[in-house]
Amino acid sequence: MDHADILIDVASVAKHYGEGDTRVDALRAVDLQVKAGEVIALLGPSGSGKTTLLNIIGCILDPSSGQVALDGEMVFDGKWLRGDLRRLRLEKIGFIFQAHNLLPFLTAEENVAVVLDLAGWPSSKGRARANELLDYLEVGHRAKVKPALLSGGEAQRVAIARALANKPRIILADEPTAALDSSRAQLVMDLLRRLAEEQQACIVTVTHDEKIFNRFDRLVHLRDGRLSDR
Ligand SMILES: Nc1ncnc2c1ncn2[C@@H]1O[C@H](COP(=O)(O)OP(=O)(O)O)[C@@H](O)[C@H]1O
Ligand SMILES: [Mg+2]
Repeated sequence: MDHADILIDVASVAKHYGEGDTRVDALRAVDLQVKAGEVIALLGPSGSGKTTLLNIIGCILDPSSGQVALDGEMVFDGKWLRGDLRRLRLEKIGFIFQAHNLLPFLTAEENVAVVLDLAGWPSSKGRARANELLDYLEVGHRAKVKPALLSGGEAQRVAIARALANKPRIILADEPTAALDSSRAQLVMDLLRRLAEEQQACIVTVTHDEKIFNRFDRLVHLRDGRLSDR
């Protein structure tokens, strides 16, 4: 494997919450490498640390120890090596949360464009990009509508458009298809896979949905704070 193709490189990452009697060891020693174009599923029972690991890769939660490198850049080695984690996230990471997290007072189009504003895109280019993505996700006809009027599936696709807007090479998703029926879930996974190929991105998805297991290159399991391929 060409080293430059490794977009996520997690080494010996541990995470515990609390101390003493209340200490929970969510991750003990996790190693994970994901390369460009790869779409992987992160599996494991409830409480096995899936969200914890995703949040660490997404730079929104501190590991207790270990190293994290993203797109060839060491970003955590016992401590964060970048002062501005928000900027790092904007540049490299698209996060699709379990609940869609859209801003209720903005239209679908504005919910996507706001991320591009923050990333410094001129607003006309941001709008064009937002509409292009909404069209691609077959929700362009709902661009001027606010989230309250969108169906669950439409809102989730708008949230996916927002996560992909800045062309991140690392896409993280926490049960992105949980709110969708089976055929919509397949559609969303197909779209994510197509985007991963086109943008040479990688995708790590937490899922319990056995109906979409065939859409992944690799299934990895979290158990007792460790990852295994079986
Ligand atoms: N903020 C927190 N404070 C204390 N314990 C937590 C916190 N977040 C998660 N945990 C615990 O860490 C373990 C892993 O949680 P989580 O990563 O949410 O698992 P999963 O997403 O696989 O259900 C669980 O035992 C959970 O109770
Ligand atoms: Mg979780």
